Amino acid sequence: MILYFTATGNSLYAAKKLDSELLSIPQELKKKNRHYKADKIGVVCPLFEFEIPPMVKDFIAGSEFETSYFYLIVTFGMHHGGVAVRTQEFLSSIGKKADYINTVIMHDNAIIVFDMDEQRKIEDTKRVEEHLAQIKADIDARTHYIQPSPQGESDFYNGYIHYREQAGPMYSFPLYQVNEKCVGCGTCSRICPRGCIRIEDKRPVYDYTDCINCMACIQACPAKAIKFASVQEPNPEARYRNVHISLQELIEANRQ
Ligand SMILES: Cc1cc2nc3c(=O)[nH]c(=O)nc-3n(C[C@H](O)[C@H](O)[C@H](O)COP(=O)(O)O)c2cc1C
Repeated sequence: MILYFTATGNSLYAAKKLDSELLSIPQELKKKNRHYKADKIGVVCPLFEFEIPPMVKDFIAGSEFETSYFYLIVTFGMHHGGVAVRTQEFLSSIGKKADYINTVIMHDNAIIVFDMDEQRKIEDTKRVEEHLAQIKADIDARTHYIQPSPQGESDFYNGYIHYREQAGPMYSFPLYQVNEKCVGCGTCSRICPRGCIRIEDKRPVYDYTDCINCMACIQACPAKAIKFASVQEPNPEARYRNVHISLQELIEANRQ
């Protein structure tokens, strides 16, 4: 059994490669009592600023997992920053423990930093299939492993923390602006895992209270009408969704 969160499909694609019983975390979060029982239970999610997303942490903290093998797979795009070690520390702080935590590098969907078209060109170099096959073999063999943090990744993480302390967050609210290309289709509202967007007079209206900046809305807009408000994007016309995952799958996973 895998519990997953995905904004643009990478983590769902990885989850599909690892198991056939998949449950969406945003859907499961609607349930009050969450108890999962399976031979192996995995959590698959993206890396957000070198951590697993707070929503995923809340989900794990508020759920019971009855299993003899608990694992986490974190998809990321450029630097994992030693997230596996920090995630095991987080689990320990809430009285839980993983048997296996690993990361897998995929397309980087952080559009405030990267041009999605340029990222597509280097996707093949990331050897996603090979890494997922290795992780699957590890899980099948019930391998015990917490990915260590190499010095380069720790340095990158510490540099980021230092930068954030000096410069503050990379973005501010309101995050997005919607331009005249919007046709009021409502895709943004349906794909938001936090229920932050309602459609009024055929226009999206954001309530950022629960927004986790997952970028699902901005990436999925068919008219590319949503842009970052406070950040200059490297390429405001380039958007990303994992090629193996349909828009409908993302909506079904995240719809509130
Ligand atoms: C808000 C945000 C923060 C991110 N932070 C990182 C990061 O710290 N390091 C990294 O390598 N990739 C980072 N990424 C890229 C994603 O982790 C990566 O593209 C992931 O595979 C997306 O998964 P998904 O398609 O399942 O949503 C970030 C993406 C977003 C939207």
